[in-house]
Amino acid sequence: MHHFRYQDNELFCEGVSVEALARRHGTPLYVYSQQTLTDNFRRLDGAWADVRHLPCYAVKANSNLAILRLMVELGSGFDVVSGGELQRVLAAGGRADRCVFAGVAKTEAEIVAALRSGIHCFNVESEQELERIDRLAGELGVVAPVALRVNPDVEARTHAKITTGTYENKFGIPFDHVESLYARAARKRHLWLRGLQMHIGSQLTRVQPFEEAVQKVAPLARRLKDRYGIEFFDIGGGLGIVYEDALASGDPAWWRTPRARKMLTPETYAARLIPHLAPLGLRILMEPGRFITGNAGILVTRVEYIKQTGRKTFVIVDAAMTELIRPAFYDAYHEIVPVRRRKAAVTECDVVGGVCESGDYFCKDRPLPLPKPGDLLALFSAGAYGSAMGSNYNSRPLAAEVLVHGRRAALVRQRQPLEAIWQWERPAPWQV
Ligand code: LLP
Repeated sequence: MHHFRYQDNELFCEGVSVEALARRHGTPLYVYSQQTLTDNFRRLDGAWADVRHLPCYAVKANSNLAILRLMVELGSGFDVVSGGELQRVLAAGGRADRCVFAGVAKTEAEIVAALRSGIHCFNVESEQELERIDRLAGELGVVAPVALRVNPDVEARTHAKITTGTYENKFGIPFDHVESLYARAARKRHLWLRGLQMHIGSQLTRVQPFEEAVQKVAPLARRLKDRYGIEFFDIGGGLGIVYEDALASGDPAWWRTPRARKMLTPETYAARLIPHLAPLGLRILMEPGRFITGNAGILVTRVEYIKQTGRKTFVIVDAAMTELIRPAFYDAYHEIVPVRRRKAAVTECDVVGGVCESGDYFCKDRPLPLPKPGDLLALFSAGAYGSAMGSNYNSRPLAAEVLVHGRRAALVRQRQPLEAIWQWERPAPWQV
């Protein structure tokens, strides 16, 4: 569910006209709905009410400080994957002792910074990393809280580029090795075996892979609790969202359609996993990213040109893969709708950006009401992995971001000034 709706054929985010926002702040523009973010967090949190738990919002999905601040206010923990993300959480007013730190390539500097800030736990991805953390904690004279990330070798049945829980992937420690690694870790003086973690993939729309993984790993969690007194089992993120009917899914009635009933909801996700997890008596952590922010954000773009080649109709817009790389990278579907609905011939269009790459498209041969230059379009489900994966390719400035709360709207990231793109560059001294 979300709070983007048409009122008299004009798209609104909560009580604010999207067109008015685009006029005021320019395009491309990300628009986020605070109510949707709040509802999504509370819904997931509420679904787990029967067990001791902590949702740790996956910062990588959208790391805007205003969104992180909202998550702090809602009582969320955080899943961070770099020193930068940890600093962001702290800058947003979050607490390090509610952050879990994942990632396969943690550097010494990142580990030291995380230890100094008093992180809740490191999710450890290899034996070498474990040894590094033990040594650095020893040098600082502290004990490092760790959880090993187990790779359960379960097929998540999602896109190959966002599958993480099989032995084809670089993530985690193979299921068969993890127990002996705990045994070795238990002998290290500067490690505190605090938990167990896993994450099998992203954008999962079926509960079975989650269930399979939890069933496989829960007995291990129990043994680790009995042997080492671990406190928590972190089941990772990955809960999928609606992409194809994104606009319609804002209407509660859509959730009663046959198509909607196939979607995995947080209630089903929790209800199917809790029976395996509750008997463990461990605190359950989860790392939702996309579910919180995905359908809470749209990307607004203006049509620059329409180009007909005889074979194709290209709708050329001012957003590009620099603002939303998902179609180019994962063949992802994002719904595209006009910000102002009016009568127009439905035409098969390729909506494309201006970056010099043939892969820079948002859709191909999609029937859309043919817009005119100057019209605004909204790309749905852009709140997760949109802005966060943004880049300066082609020296395009990072786009502006607005957070809407009822009838109020705040610019929560200004459009990057052009000079800021090259502010850390300079000619070499021998270049006169
Ligand atoms: N925890 C870990 C260890 C992860 O690797 C991820 C995502 C998450 C949590 C959050 O997953 P979520 O709840 O958002 O599915 N850029 C891709 C998604 C990459 C996901 C990477 N890891 C996309 O746009 O689809």
